[in-house]
Amino acid sequence: MLDKYKKAQKEFVRQQVEKLNNIGVALSSEHNLEKLLGQVVSQALGLAHCDAGSIYIKEEDKLAFMVAQNNTLKKRYGKGYEDKYFKKFQFPISKDRISGYVASTGETLNIGDVYQIHPDKEYRFTDDFDRRNNYVTKSMIAMPLKDPDHNVLGVLQLINCLNEEGKIIPFDKDIENLIQSVSSQAAVAIRNAQLIRKVKEAHLDTILRLSVAAEFRDDDTSEHLRRMTTYSVIVARNLGMSEYEIDLLKYAAPMHDIGKIGIPDSILFKPGNLTKSEWEEMKKHTIYGAQILEGSDSEILKASSIVAMNHHERWDGSGYPRGLRKNEIPIFGQIVSIADVFDALASKRCYKEAYDLSNSIEEIKASRSVSFSKHIVDAFVQGLEEIVEVFQNSQKSVFEQAPIIEVNKVEVQFH
Ligand SMILES: [Fe+2]
Ligand SMILES: [Fe+2]
Repeated sequence: MLDKYKKAQKEFVRQQVEKLNNIGVALSSEHNLEKLLGQVVSQALGLAHCDAGSIYIKEEDKLAFMVAQNNTLKKRYGKGYEDKYFKKFQFPISKDRISGYVASTGETLNIGDVYQIHPDKEYRFTDDFDRRNNYVTKSMIAMPLKDPDHNVLGVLQLINCLNEEGKIIPFDKDIENLIQSVSSQAAVAIRNAQLIRKVKEAHLDTILRLSVAAEFRDDDTSEHLRRMTTYSVIVARNLGMSEYEIDLLKYAAPMHDIGKIGIPDSILFKPGNLTKSEWEEMKKHTIYGAQILEGSDSEILKASSIVAMNHHERWDGSGYPRGLRKNEIPIFGQIVSIADVFDALASKRCYKEAYDLSNSIEEIKASRSVSFSKHIVDAFVQGLEEIVEVFQNSQKSVFEQAPIIEVNKVEVQFH
């Protein structure tokens, strides 16, 4: 009998270790922070057998509520309920909230009933979520996500542990230990994802600054690059490109005109029309750009070289420098070219006044199957609402613009 019990217990432990290993592998391969956090919560829910969970990430002296899953609300409201019911927000870290207490002390709180917290305790349960959603939180574990250097990166909260009959019970010590292992693995993965994001942000910033330096001297260049990069990403997303390709394009697009560094100022800033020979020289910025960027092992620079070379090619073969036609033009070149043309049409340049927005949109629509493929124009039109918003936001004064990075948008924001 004892043997049988021991065997069963051994098997249970083996299964838990295997689950933890799988979680570790899954987490370490996900570098997108928001997706990673979603995975941590769902893995923790499964392992702890509980109804709900959420993660807060520390951002200086604030906690940002990042992701949440709640099986009861999911059953009640259906798939996609998270976006509707969980509003992302930030709040200052203070010890009177459970998550704030855990973030500032680094202690784990394992609470049997959040409505029965002893008045001597520094922290309280805030019941806004329960009242708003007609939900009852009872048992809770709030655990710090600590990296190996013991820095608290955030807080994992699990709610309402369930027994086999689905009744809410407190989280026992074994479950707490299991969740502890997931938290440690999650913290390492989160730290890596945050570092990767910081490097990417710095990389993109460097690219933008160098690209501005190459075209320089024109105040609007940096805004043009930000806008046309955002349009390119929107079009690529609507074309169904993979996240990896979209990422490459995001870094490559701002470098499209880097070859202008080789064009004399007298041509680059000439108001009015260029002579034929000046125009021939101007066209060479595509080739100069490709030459500057080619020959690298970096996927980003390879993509950038393609973009620089092909962003003035046109679907009907009327573009330059090679007069490529249709799908001879690499897709990155096609996407950047529509984004670049639209922004150039709608903006004021040294050689022209701005077109009004609706005229610019009509012009793009009219170029379907002429300058641009019908798929590209359709993907552009599909994203029009977002594109117009980006354009209009950049026309506002800097004081009216949204902050550079908002808590509810994990990616680098251009506007
Ligand atoms: Fe160009
Ligand atoms: Fe451009």
